[in-house]
Amino acid sequence: MATTARYAEIRFNDRPIKQPMADPESLLLEPGEVTADFEAKSPYRLDELHPDIANYRAVSTRRFFDPAAKLAEEEKMWSKVWLVAGIASDVAQVGDWFKFDIGPQSIIVARAKEDEVHAYYNACKHRGNELVQEEFGHGATSFTCIMHSWRYDLKGKNVRVTDRETFREEALCQNLNLTPVHVKVWGGLVFVNMDADPIPFEDYFADVLDMLGSYRMDEMFLVKDLTIEVPANWKTMYSVFNENYHAHATHPQIKPYVDDYFIQYDFYRHGHNRNLFPVAQVSPRWPDGRFINAGLAFFMQEAGLKAVGFKGDARHVRRAIQQAKRKADNVYGMDFSGFTDNQLTDDWNPSLFPNVTLNMHPEGILLQRFRPHPTDPEKGYHDVFVLSAKLAPGRRPPAYMGVEDHVDVSGKVRPPRRHTTHDDPQGGEVVEQDIANMITLQRGMHSRGLNGTIVYSEQERRIQHFLAELDLYLDDKKG
Ligand SMILES: [Fe+2]
Repeated sequence: MATTARYAEIRFNDRPIKQPMADPESLLLEPGEVTADFEAKSPYRLDELHPDIANYRAVSTRRFFDPAAKLAEEEKMWSKVWLVAGIASDVAQVGDWFKFDIGPQSIIVARAKEDEVHAYYNACKHRGNELVQEEFGHGATSFTCIMHSWRYDLKGKNVRVTDRETFREEALCQNLNLTPVHVKVWGGLVFVNMDADPIPFEDYFADVLDMLGSYRMDEMFLVKDLTIEVPANWKTMYSVFNENYHAHATHPQIKPYVDDYFIQYDFYRHGHNRNLFPVAQVSPRWPDGRFINAGLAFFMQEAGLKAVGFKGDARHVRRAIQQAKRKADNVYGMDFSGFTDNQLTDDWNPSLFPNVTLNMHPEGILLQRFRPHPTDPEKGYHDVFVLSAKLAPGRRPPAYMGVEDHVDVSGKVRPPRRHTTHDDPQGGEVVEQDIANMITLQRGMHSRGLNGTIVYSEQERRIQHFLAELDLYLDDKKG
């Protein structure tokens, strides 16, 4: 497909990088522009990437609960895409490993050497028995199947077939090593791809790597790790985070300090996209755009500014916070020099196809991942990871990310993974408001009152993009 990108050269750490968007200092849409064209500054127009995008303004609800749709996704999509499997610091040392489950597939990621991370299916080549059931391990030298004691080294190579002499030669003539999965460690994350001959990692994420890299995720550390089982299809769950149209109704508390309407939309190749929304800026839906409300005052205080005596009104707060962060002695104790001004305040919210969304700030990142259940299309897992930069004592990642006050954010301790359900989600106020929507959306989509169809607005273009990209896989047009 012929597409034309609009790239801007910006400098990051004194080197030019290709940033697929307009000048980042002026990219936010101005009032008046947005209703005419949400994606005026996107590197790609969505209808360039998907000429059939008009088909995605009204879609069938069936794919959100149909077992056949789930099987098709497993066979044709999950098996071909690059997936965030985990956090690189969990395989920092030789002998560290973790397990990544995605639908019915289970994968082990292990560090076999200082410079070698391997990934393979978590299934013994004897009869398929799962090798590990725990989620993490340290100091391992091999994996031994508990059923018949077949053993594999950290590269997945078979090193023991118990009572080998009792097998006929023809039974053992196949490859007895664990089946490998492609793996890439990048930016503090571990990615895997189950395809035998996958699209190169650098091609798949070509349009977003520089932007993701600018946040220095590899220097951040995990401060929250939560898996929530939710009675909803993974696409229902993901869709809740893939639009901001819901914010004014679902999260009314943010209107005094988050602009949920004048939002930049960026669409990239391979299904990725992004919203940029201004923080420390009053929503146009809030009645008073000038008074420095309590929410704005909180953001000012966080940045070491005082609302009392401030020379300016609410319209000047966002800029003042950016300038405060630019100072060498800023209260965060951080070097913000590699970031653009709007990165210092705003929520940069990329989504990585098919199942990850990130809310990015220099001080911390909320990474949410949505995984299908092994067997039930109407259940899924909502993983919440919060990463924090190294901050001055007393400073914490943005409050909405739901890191509880008692949690140590110094980076000295990796928090244990918590497993919970939608009844006690532990995600913090904002995330929990979103989880409530997942459940009622999933139930409502069965209603005869819909005649099997739901509709998406132009503020929900990212969901349209996601479904159109997914259908390329399901229709055998991709990979
Ligand atoms: Fe939300």
